[in-house]
Amino acid sequence: MSSSVLKFENVSLSFDGVENVLDNVSLEMHAGDTLIILGAAGAGKTVMVKIALGLLGSTSGRITLFGQDVTKFTEPQWFTIRPRIGMLFQEGGLFDSLTIEENVAYPLVNRTKMTAEQAKPKVEEALKFVELGHTLDKFPSELSGGMRRRVGIARAAVSDPDLLLYDSPTAGLDPITANRIMALIIQEREIRNATSAIISHRFQDGHMMANFRYNPESKKLERMPEDSPLRQRTRFLVMHDGRIVFEGNERELDASRDPYVSKFSMHRSIH
Ligand SMILES: Nc1ncnc2c1ncn2[C@@H]1O[C@H](COP(=O)(O)OP(=O)(O)O)[C@@H](O)[C@H]1O
Ligand SMILES: [Mg+2]
Repeated sequence: MSSSVLKFENVSLSFDGVENVLDNVSLEMHAGDTLIILGAAGAGKTVMVKIALGLLGSTSGRITLFGQDVTKFTEPQWFTIRPRIGMLFQEGGLFDSLTIEENVAYPLVNRTKMTAEQAKPKVEEALKFVELGHTLDKFPSELSGGMRRRVGIARAAVSDPDLLLYDSPTAGLDPITANRIMALIIQEREIRNATSAIISHRFQDGHMMANFRYNPESKKLERMPEDSPLRQRTRFLVMHDGRIVFEGNERELDASRDPYVSKFSMHRSIH
């Protein structure tokens, strides 16, 4: 069994006046796992990843990262562990007043002790990987929505994190751009060998993660064999009103008779 990367044990969260935004959520990811978190708007997906990153505290329960109990971590302690996690925020979350280079360098310069000069080669490499090597001096407003999302992926991956969290990477994009973003996420998984969790409202995104891998030789996506370990280590979660209402593989998701869960299966969401 490979090592535990992220563990939630009975995690709940309430805000003032909003009860059980997360309601007794338990999950665990091991090194090399892929987790696809499906759910409608308001299900609690974003708060869940914010808790995993220490940007929000939980009301109760225990959170463990890389085997370390982080539930009561102070901000300085979070600073030591956050460089191991790459995050693509919903809507990309780029800083409008910073250049693309400064945006991608941000996790290195602000979460490690690197200077901008030291960070530059890594920033250039991460941007080249998402085919945006020519945009270093541009500002986010000069790029298209899909390009900004790719910058967000470069920023998430620049510190070579052990865990990559992608919050709704395809939301608001046309299907062709969305598939391109998913292909990049699959590439990052292959090249960086990172444990990945991806939030989506589209079954297709999960289907791609669960069935395709990147072949670095042909530089193309290819279908994974049935017995591929990567395929077996890909799980789907469905969240509804702060609770995990389904956990399993693609076949089990597809076979579910639960009226809510089946909304997210193949038959329902491919239009
Ligand atoms: N800071 C906050 N204060 C109060 N309620 C919040 C806050 N952040 C999120 N919520 C509520 O928590 C629920 C889950 O939100 P969220 O995790 O963003 O959903 P989603 O699954 O769409 O990402 C929503 O009902 C939202 O209104
Ligand atoms: Mg969200």
